[in-house]
Amino acid sequence: MSADAERAGRLLGGRYDLTSVIARGGMGVVWEATDRVLDRPVAVKEVTYPVHVTEHEREVLRERTLREGRNAASLDHPHVTTVFDVVEEDGRPWLVMEHIPSRSLQQLVEETGPLPWQAVARIGLDVLDGLVAAHRAGIVHRDVKPGNVLVDTAGRGYLTDFGIATATGDSSLTTTGTMIGSPSYMSPERAHGEQPGPPSDLWSLGATLYTALEGRPAFAKDEPMATLMAVVSEHPPPMLHAGPLEPLVRGLLTKDPALRTTPGQARTELQSALSGAPAAQAWPPPQSSAPPPTRSADAAAAAGGDQVERISAEDLKALALGSAALIGSVARDAADQARHLADKRRARRADRADRAAPPPPRRPAATPARPARRRFRFRRRWVVVPVVVLLLALSIVVIGVVALLGSAFGWF
Ligand SMILES: Nc1ncnc2c1ncn2[C@@H]1O[C@H](COP(=O)(O)OP(=O)(O)O)[C@@H](O)[C@H]1O
Ligand SMILES: [Mg+2]
Repeated sequence: MSADAERAGRLLGGRYDLTSVIARGGMGVVWEATDRVLDRPVAVKEVTYPVHVTEHEREVLRERTLREGRNAASLDHPHVTTVFDVVEEDGRPWLVMEHIPSRSLQQLVEETGPLPWQAVARIGLDVLDGLVAAHRAGIVHRDVKPGNVLVDTAGRGYLTDFGIATATGDSSLTTTGTMIGSPSYMSPERAHGEQPGPPSDLWSLGATLYTALEGRPAFAKDEPMATLMAVVSEHPPPMLHAGPLEPLVRGLLTKDPALRTTPGQARTELQSALSGAPAAQAWPPPQSSAPPPTRSADAAAAAGGDQVERISAEDLKALALGSAALIGSVARDAADQARHLADKRRARRADRADRAAPPPPRRPAATPARPARRRFRFRRRWVVVPVVVLLLALSIVVIGVVALLGSAFGWF
Protein backbone atom coordinates (compact mmCIF):
# COMPACT_ATOMS: atom_id res chain seq x y z
CA MET A 1 0.00 0.00 0.00
CA SER A 2 1.37 3.46 -0.90
CA ALA A 3 2.02 6.08 1.78
CA ASP A 4 -0.82 8.22 0.31
CA ALA A 5 -3.28 5.32 0.45
CA GLU A 6 -2.22 4.66 4.05
CA ARG A 7 -2.89 8.27 5.00
CA ALA A 8 -6.25 8.47 3.20
CA GLY A 9 -8.91 7.83 5.82
CA ARG A 10 -6.66 9.10 8.60
CA LEU A 11 -8.20 11.42 11.18
CA LEU A 12 -5.82 14.33 11.62
CA GLY A 13 -5.85 16.09 14.98
CA GLY A 14 -8.90 14.00 15.90
CA ARG A 15 -10.96 16.19 13.58
CA TYR A 16 -9.93 16.34 9.91
CA ASP A 17 -10.71 13.28 7.81
CA LEU A 18 -8.20 13.02 4.91
CA THR A 19 -9.99 11.76 1.78
CA SER A 20 -7.90 12.11 -1.37
CA VAL A 21 -4.86 13.90 -2.78
CA ILE A 22 -5.64 17.13 -4.63
CA ALA A 23 -2.11 18.00 -5.72
CA ARG A 24 1.55 17.66 -4.96
CA GLY A 25 3.35 20.99 -4.70
CA GLY A 26 6.91 22.01 -3.97
CA MET A 27 6.40 21.74 -0.20
CA GLY A 28 4.29 18.62 0.06
CA VAL A 29 0.90 17.10 -0.58
CA VAL A 30 -2.43 18.95 -0.54
CA TRP A 31 -5.37 16.80 0.60
CA GLU A 32 -9.09 17.11 0.28
CA ALA A 33 -10.55 16.50 3.74
CA THR A 34 -13.66 16.91 5.87
CA ASP A 35 -13.81 18.84 9.11
CA ARG A 36 -15.80 16.42 11.31
CA VAL A 37 -16.61 19.11 13.91
CA LEU A 38 -18.01 21.75 11.55
CA ASP A 39 -18.98 19.20 8.90
CA ARG A 40 -17.49 21.09 5.97
CA PRO A 41 -14.91 20.32 3.29
CA VAL A 42 -11.38 21.63 3.90
CA ALA A 43 -8.00 21.38 2.16
CA VAL A 44 -5.05 20.16 4.23
CA LYS A 45 -1.44 20.84 3.26
CA GLU A 46 0.92 18.16 4.51
CA VAL A 47 4.52 19.31 4.57
CA THR A 48 6.67 16.42 3.40
CA TYR A 49 10.35 16.62 4.29
CA PRO A 50 12.74 15.55 1.55
CA VAL A 51 14.61 12.36 2.51
CA HIS A 52 18.03 13.73 3.42
CA VAL A 53 17.09 16.98 5.15
CA THR A 54 19.13 17.96 8.15
CA GLU A 55 17.60 18.71 11.53
CA HIS A 56 18.15 22.41 10.88
CA GLU A 57 16.38 22.30 7.47
CA ARG A 58 13.50 20.40 9.07
CA GLU A 59 13.16 23.21 11.59
CA VAL A 60 13.26 25.80 8.78
CA LEU A 61 10.47 24.00 6.90
CA ARG A 62 8.39 23.73 10.04
CA GLU A 63 8.91 27.42 10.77
CA ARG A 64 8.02 28.28 7.15
CA THR A 65 4.72 26.39 7.34
CA LEU A 66 3.80 28.05 10.61
CA ARG A 67 4.65 31.36 9.03
CA GLU A 68 2.44 30.58 6.02
CA GLY A 69 -0.36 29.85 8.50
CA ARG A 70 0.19 33.09 10.40
CA ASN A 71 0.47 35.20 7.24
CA ALA A 72 -2.61 33.79 5.54
CA ALA A 73 -4.63 33.76 8.76
CA SER A 74 -3.93 37.46 9.28
CA LEU A 75 -5.55 38.19 5.90
CA ASP A 76 -9.26 38.04 5.49
CA HIS A 77 -9.88 38.57 1.81
CA PRO A 78 -12.26 36.92 -0.67
CA HIS A 79 -9.38 36.29 -3.11
CA VAL A 80 -6.85 34.86 -0.65
CA THR A 81 -7.28 31.25 0.54
CA THR A 82 -8.26 31.37 4.20
CA VAL A 83 -6.26 29.34 6.71
CA PHE A 84 -8.45 27.84 9.44
CA ASP A 85 -6.03 25.88 11.59
CA VAL A 86 -2.52 24.45 11.98
CA VAL A 87 -2.20 20.95 13.47
CA GLU A 88 1.16 19.61 14.66
CA GLU A 89 1.27 15.85 14.28
CA ASP A 90 4.03 13.33 13.43
CA GLY A 91 6.48 16.06 14.38
CA ARG A 92 5.39 18.38 11.55
CA PRO A 93 2.75 21.01 10.93
CA TRP A 94 -0.32 20.41 8.76
CA LEU A 95 -2.11 23.47 7.37
CA VAL A 96 -5.93 23.36 7.31
CA MET A 97 -7.44 25.72 4.72
CA GLU A 98 -10.68 26.65 3.08
CA HIS A 99 -11.27 24.14 0.27
CA ILE A 100 -11.69 25.81 -3.11
CA PRO A 101 -12.98 23.47 -5.85
CA SER A 102 -10.52 24.71 -8.43
CA ARG A 103 -7.54 24.07 -10.57
CA SER A 104 -4.37 26.07 -10.42
CA LEU A 105 -3.66 28.46 -13.28
CA GLN A 106 -0.60 26.30 -13.98
CA GLN A 107 -2.77 23.20 -14.43
CA LEU A 108 -5.22 25.09 -16.64
CA VAL A 109 -2.46 26.33 -18.94
CA GLU A 110 -0.93 22.87 -19.11
CA GLU A 111 -4.31 21.36 -20.00
CA THR A 112 -5.77 23.96 -22.33
CA GLY A 113 -2.88 26.16 -23.49
CA PRO A 114 -3.26 29.96 -23.59
CA LEU A 115 -6.39 31.25 -21.84
CA PRO A 116 -8.69 33.87 -23.42
CA TRP A 117 -7.51 37.37 -22.46
CA GLN A 118 -10.92 38.20 -20.92
CA ALA A 119 -10.56 35.26 -18.54
CA VAL A 120 -7.00 36.26 -17.70
CA ALA A 121 -8.08 39.87 -17.04
CA ARG A 122 -10.72 38.68 -14.52
CA ILE A 123 -8.28 36.37 -12.75
CA GLY A 124 -5.69 39.18 -12.81
CA LEU A 125 -8.08 41.62 -11.11
CA ASP A 126 -8.88 39.09 -8.36
CA VAL A 127 -5.25 38.23 -7.66
CA LEU A 128 -4.31 41.92 -7.74
CA ASP A 129 -6.95 42.63 -5.07
CA GLY A 130 -5.60 39.80 -2.91
CA LEU A 131 -2.04 41.08 -3.34
CA VAL A 132 -2.97 44.66 -2.45
CA ALA A 133 -4.65 43.38 0.74
CA ALA A 134 -1.47 41.42 1.63
CA HIS A 135 0.72 44.47 0.98
CA ARG A 136 -1.52 46.64 3.14
CA ALA A 137 -1.03 44.10 5.93
CA GLY A 138 2.75 44.41 5.46
CA ILE A 139 3.10 40.99 3.77
CA VAL A 140 5.08 40.44 0.56
CA HIS A 141 4.07 37.12 -1.04
CA ARG A 142 7.40 36.51 -2.87
CA ASP A 143 6.11 33.47 -4.81
CA VAL A 144 3.30 34.70 -7.06
CA LYS A 145 3.18 32.25 -10.00
CA PRO A 146 0.57 30.21 -11.90
CA GLY A 147 0.93 27.26 -9.47
CA ASN A 148 -0.09 29.54 -6.60
CA VAL A 149 -3.18 31.00 -8.26
CA LEU A 150 -6.35 28.92 -7.95
CA VAL A 151 -9.20 29.34 -10.45
CA ASP A 152 -12.67 28.20 -9.40
CA THR A 153 -15.55 26.95 -11.56
CA ALA A 154 -16.83 30.52 -12.08
CA GLY A 155 -13.43 31.70 -13.35
CA ARG A 156 -12.53 33.62 -10.15
CA GLY A 157 -8.92 33.78 -9.00
CA TYR A 158 -7.46 33.15 -5.49
CA LEU A 159 -3.95 33.72 -4.25
CA THR A 160 -2.57 30.85 -2.19
CA ASP A 161 0.68 29.50 -0.73
CA PHE A 162 2.17 32.19 1.47
CA GLY A 163 4.98 29.71 2.20
CA ILE A 164 7.88 32.01 1.47
CA ALA A 165 6.09 35.25 2.24
CA THR A 166 7.69 37.67 4.65
CA ALA A 167 5.84 39.90 7.02
CA THR A 168 7.42 43.12 8.18
CA GLY A 169 9.16 42.26 11.42
CA ASP A 170 9.67 38.57 10.59
CA SER A 171 13.31 37.54 10.51
CA SER A 172 14.29 36.04 7.16
CA LEU A 173 14.57 32.27 7.04
CA THR A 174 17.09 32.42 4.25
CA THR A 175 19.84 34.00 6.32
CA THR A 176 22.56 32.02 4.50
CA GLY A 177 21.96 34.13 1.39
CA THR A 178 20.30 31.21 -0.38
CA MET A 179 17.27 32.30 -2.35
CA ILE A 180 14.23 30.09 -2.78
CA GLY A 181 11.64 30.52 -5.50
CA SER A 182 10.77 29.98 -9.15
CA PRO A 183 13.29 31.89 -11.34
CA SER A 184 10.82 32.46 -14.20
CA TYR A 185 8.62 34.48 -11.85
CA MET A 186 11.30 36.23 -9.75
CA SER A 187 11.67 39.96 -10.20
CA PRO A 188 14.98 41.40 -11.50
CA GLU A 189 15.62 43.14 -8.15
CA ARG A 190 15.20 39.81 -6.35
CA ALA A 191 17.56 38.20 -8.86
CA HIS A 192 20.07 40.90 -7.85
CA GLY A 193 19.72 39.72 -4.26
CA GLU A 194 17.81 42.78 -3.06
CA GLN A 195 15.09 42.51 -0.43
CA PRO A 196 11.83 42.22 -2.40
CA GLY A 197 9.07 44.76 -1.76
CA PRO A 198 5.49 44.98 -3.08
CA PRO A 199 6.64 45.94 -6.66
CA SER A 200 8.43 42.58 -6.78
CA ASP A 201 5.06 40.80 -6.40
CA LEU A 202 3.70 42.95 -9.23
CA TRP A 203 6.49 41.78 -11.53
CA SER A 204 5.59 38.18 -10.64
CA LEU A 205 1.93 38.93 -11.35
CA GLY A 206 2.98 40.26 -14.79
CA ALA A 207 5.01 37.09 -15.44
CA THR A 208 2.04 34.97 -14.29
CA LEU A 209 -0.39 36.77 -16.60
CA TYR A 210 2.12 36.42 -19.45
CA THR A 211 2.17 32.61 -19.01
CA ALA A 212 -1.63 32.46 -18.84
CA LEU A 213 -1.99 34.51 -22.03
CA GLU A 214 0.79 32.96 -24.08
CA GLY A 215 0.81 29.40 -22.76
CA ARG A 216 4.51 29.62 -21.87
CA PRO A 217 6.61 31.68 -19.46
CA ALA A 218 8.22 34.92 -20.61
CA PHE A 219 11.57 33.76 -19.25
CA ALA A 220 12.48 30.06 -19.07
CA LYS A 221 15.88 28.65 -19.95
CA ASP A 222 17.36 25.23 -19.26
CA GLU A 223 19.25 26.39 -16.17
CA PRO A 224 17.88 28.47 -13.27
CA MET A 225 20.80 30.90 -13.48
CA ALA A 226 20.31 31.35 -17.24
CA THR A 227 16.64 32.10 -16.56
CA LEU A 228 17.59 34.70 -13.94
CA MET A 229 20.06 36.24 -16.41
CA ALA A 230 17.21 36.53 -18.94
CA VAL A 231 14.97 38.06 -16.25
CA VAL A 232 17.48 40.84 -15.57
CA SER A 233 18.58 41.51 -19.13
CA GLU A 234 16.16 40.30 -21.81
CA HIS A 235 12.89 41.52 -23.29
CA PRO A 236 9.91 39.22 -22.88
CA PRO A 237 9.26 37.62 -26.29
CA PRO A 238 6.50 39.25 -28.38
CA MET A 239 2.98 38.48 -27.14
CA LEU A 240 0.69 36.85 -29.70
CA HIS A 241 -2.54 36.33 -27.74
CA ALA A 242 -2.60 39.16 -25.20
CA GLY A 243 -5.07 41.46 -26.99
CA PRO A 244 -5.51 44.72 -25.05
CA LEU A 245 -3.60 43.31 -22.06
CA GLU A 246 -0.20 43.54 -23.73
CA PRO A 247 0.69 47.08 -22.50
CA LEU A 248 -0.33 46.11 -18.95
CA VAL A 249 1.83 42.96 -18.94
CA ARG A 250 4.81 44.83 -20.38
CA GLY A 251 4.30 47.59 -17.80
CA LEU A 252 4.32 45.03 -14.97
CA LEU A 253 7.45 43.42 -16.45
CA THR A 254 9.38 46.72 -16.35
CA LYS A 255 12.86 45.95 -15.00
CA ASP A 256 13.13 49.05 -12.81
CA PRO A 257 10.75 48.67 -9.83
CA ALA A 258 10.44 52.47 -9.55
CA LEU A 259 9.04 52.66 -13.11
CA ARG A 260 6.90 49.52 -12.90
CA THR A 261 3.12 49.70 -13.27
CA THR A 262 1.54 50.34 -9.87
CA PRO A 263 -1.44 48.38 -8.47
CA GLY A 264 -3.74 51.37 -9.10
CA GLN A 265 -2.65 51.64 -12.76
CA ALA A 266 -2.95 47.87 -13.20
CA ARG A 267 -6.50 47.87 -11.84
CA THR A 268 -7.53 50.74 -14.14
CA GLU A 269 -6.01 49.03 -17.19
CA LEU A 270 -7.64 45.68 -16.39
CA GLN A 271 -11.02 47.27 -15.79
CA SER A 272 -10.92 49.35 -18.97
CA ALA A 273 -9.89 46.26 -21.01
CA LEU A 274 -12.85 44.39 -19.56
CA SER A 275 -15.44 47.15 -19.88
CA GLY A 276 -17.74 46.14 -22.68
CA ALA A 277 -15.66 43.06 -23.53
CA PRO A 278 -17.81 40.05 -24.42
CA ALA A 279 -17.31 37.07 -22.08
CA ALA A 280 -14.79 34.65 -23.52
CA GLN A 281 -16.38 31.74 -25.28
CA ALA A 282 -16.05 28.32 -23.63
CA TRP A 283 -14.96 29.86 -20.35
CA PRO A 284 -14.66 28.75 -17.63
CA PRO A 285 -13.55 25.30 -18.78
CA PRO A 286 -15.41 22.31 -17.33
CA GLN A 287 -13.97 21.18 -14.00
CA SER A 288 -12.88 17.61 -13.79
CA SER A 289 -11.20 15.50 -11.19
CA ALA A 290 -9.75 13.34 -13.97
CA PRO A 291 -5.96 13.38 -14.30
CA PRO A 292 -4.71 15.95 -16.82
CA PRO A 293 -4.31 14.70 -20.38
CA THR A 294 -0.89 13.75 -21.72
CA ARG A 295 1.25 16.85 -21.88
CA SER A 296 1.89 18.56 -25.17
CA ALA A 297 5.16 20.33 -25.96
CA ASP A 298 3.50 23.65 -25.04
CA ALA A 299 2.28 22.22 -21.75
CA ALA A 300 5.80 21.07 -20.95
CA ALA A 301 7.07 24.56 -21.82
CA ALA A 302 4.42 26.13 -19.58
CA ALA A 303 5.48 23.88 -16.74
CA GLY A 304 9.13 24.64 -17.37
CA GLY A 305 9.22 27.78 -15.29
CA ASP A 306 7.25 26.61 -12.28
CA GLN A 307 9.83 24.61 -10.36
CA VAL A 308 10.99 25.92 -7.02
CA GLU A 309 14.77 26.30 -7.08
CA ARG A 310 17.38 27.01 -4.47
CA ILE A 311 19.98 29.49 -5.68
CA SER A 312 23.21 29.84 -3.75
CA ALA A 313 24.70 33.11 -2.53
CA GLU A 314 27.79 32.61 -4.77
CA ASP A 315 25.65 32.24 -7.89
CA LEU A 316 23.72 35.38 -6.98
CA LYS A 317 26.96 37.31 -6.54
CA ALA A 318 28.16 36.10 -9.96
CA LEU A 319 24.87 37.19 -11.47
CA ALA A 320 25.15 40.63 -9.87
CA LEU A 321 28.68 41.09 -11.28
CA GLY A 322 27.74 39.77 -14.72
CA SER A 323 24.63 41.84 -14.93
CA ALA A 324 26.39 45.08 -13.94
CA ALA A 325 27.86 44.98 -17.43
CA LEU A 326 24.37 44.52 -18.75
CA ILE A 327 22.88 47.59 -17.09
CA GLY A 328 23.50 49.61 -20.26
CA SER A 329 21.69 47.04 -22.35
CA VAL A 330 18.81 46.93 -19.85
CA ALA A 331 18.46 50.70 -20.23
CA ARG A 332 18.43 50.22 -23.99
CA ASP A 333 15.81 47.51 -23.53
CA ALA A 334 13.62 49.92 -21.60
CA ALA A 335 13.96 52.50 -24.37
CA ASP A 336 13.20 49.82 -27.01
CA GLN A 337 10.19 48.74 -25.03
CA ALA A 338 8.87 52.32 -24.83
CA ARG A 339 9.44 52.74 -28.57
CA HIS A 340 7.69 49.45 -29.30
CA LEU A 341 4.64 50.51 -27.27
CA ALA A 342 4.54 53.94 -28.93
CA ASP A 343 4.73 52.27 -32.39
CA LYS A 344 1.86 49.96 -31.48
CA ARG A 345 -0.25 52.85 -30.21
CA ARG A 346 0.42 54.78 -33.44
CA ALA A 347 -0.46 51.71 -35.53
CA ARG A 348 -3.71 51.23 -33.59
CA ARG A 349 -4.65 54.92 -34.03
CA ALA A 350 -3.87 54.74 -37.77
CA ASP A 351 -5.91 51.53 -38.01
CA ARG A 352 -8.91 53.18 -36.30
CA ALA A 353 -8.61 56.25 -38.58
CA ASP A 354 -8.41 53.96 -41.64
CA ARG A 355 -11.56 52.15 -40.61
CA ALA A 356 -13.39 55.43 -40.00
CA ALA A 357 -12.33 56.98 -43.36
CA PRO A 358 -14.08 56.06 -46.65
CA PRO A 359 -12.10 53.53 -48.73
CA PRO A 360 -9.59 55.21 -51.09
CA PRO A 361 -10.43 55.17 -54.82
CA ARG A 362 -8.97 52.14 -56.52
CA ARG A 363 -6.16 52.52 -59.01
CA PRO A 364 -6.99 51.28 -62.50
CA ALA A 365 -5.77 47.70 -62.76
CA ALA A 366 -3.65 48.54 -65.80
CA THR A 367 -1.42 50.96 -63.86
CA PRO A 368 1.61 48.95 -62.75
CA ALA A 369 2.31 49.39 -59.04
CA ARG A 370 5.38 51.57 -58.63
CA PRO A 371 7.83 50.43 -55.94
CA ALA A 372 7.68 52.79 -52.97
CA ARG A 373 10.69 55.11 -52.97
CA ARG A 374 12.78 54.93 -49.82
CA ARG A 375 12.82 58.23 -48.00
CA PHE A 376 16.22 59.85 -47.92
CA ARG A 377 17.37 60.28 -44.31
CA PHE A 378 20.53 62.08 -43.44
CA ARG A 379 22.59 60.27 -40.84
CA ARG A 380 25.16 62.04 -38.71
CA ARG A 381 27.51 59.06 -38.79
CA TRP A 382 28.01 59.57 -42.57
CA VAL A 383 29.98 62.76 -41.67
CA VAL A 384 31.38 61.85 -38.27
CA VAL A 385 33.01 58.54 -39.29
CA PRO A 386 34.97 59.84 -42.34
CA VAL A 387 36.11 62.96 -40.39
CA VAL A 388 37.42 60.84 -37.51
CA VAL A 389 39.22 58.49 -39.93
CA LEU A 390 40.74 61.48 -41.77
CA LEU A 391 41.93 63.07 -38.53
CA LEU A 392 43.50 59.80 -37.42
CA ALA A 393 45.29 59.38 -40.76
CA LEU A 394 46.55 63.01 -40.61
CA SER A 395 47.89 62.61 -37.09
CA ILE A 396 49.75 59.41 -38.12
CA VAL A 397 51.33 61.27 -41.08
CA VAL A 398 52.34 64.24 -38.86
CA ILE A 399 53.89 61.92 -36.26
CA GLY A 400 55.78 60.09 -39.05
CA VAL A 401 57.12 63.31 -40.53
CA VAL A 402 58.21 64.65 -37.13
CA ALA A 403 59.93 61.32 -36.39
CA LEU A 404 61.79 61.42 -39.75
CA LEU A 405 62.91 65.02 -39.30
CA GLY A 406 63.90 64.29 -35.74
CA SER A 407 66.14 61.40 -36.74
CA ALA A 408 67.58 63.40 -39.70
CA PHE A 409 68.52 66.41 -37.56
CA GLY A 410 69.36 64.42 -34.46
CA TRP A 411 66.62 65.99 -32.31
CA PHE A 412 66.06 62.80 -30.32
N1 LIG B 1 -7.20 25.65 -0.56
C1 LIG B 1 -7.09 24.86 -1.61
N2 LIG B 1 -8.17 24.29 -2.21
C2 LIG B 1 -8.01 23.50 -3.30
N3 LIG B 1 -6.83 23.18 -3.86
C3 LIG B 1 -5.70 23.69 -3.32
C4 LIG B 1 -5.77 24.55 -2.17
N4 LIG B 1 -4.53 24.93 -1.84
C5 LIG B 1 -3.72 24.34 -2.74
N5 LIG B 1 -4.40 23.59 -3.63
C6 LIG B 1 -3.82 22.80 -4.74
O1 LIG B 1 -2.54 22.31 -4.32
C7 LIG B 1 -1.48 22.84 -5.15
C8 LIG B 1 -0.25 23.11 -4.29
O2 LIG B 1 -0.61 24.03 -3.26
P1 LIG B 1 0.42 25.04 -2.64
O3 LIG B 1 -0.22 25.71 -1.47
O4 LIG B 1 0.93 25.93 -3.73
O5 LIG B 1 1.56 24.08 -2.12
P2 LIG B 1 3.14 24.08 -2.26
O6 LIG B 1 3.65 24.89 -1.12
O7 LIG B 1 3.50 22.65 -2.13
O8 LIG B 1 3.50 24.68 -3.59
C9 LIG B 1 -2.09 24.07 -5.80
O9 LIG B 1 -1.47 24.36 -7.03
C10 LIG B 1 -3.55 23.66 -5.97
O10 LIG B 1 -3.69 22.84 -7.12
MG1 LIG C 1 2.82 26.45 -4.39
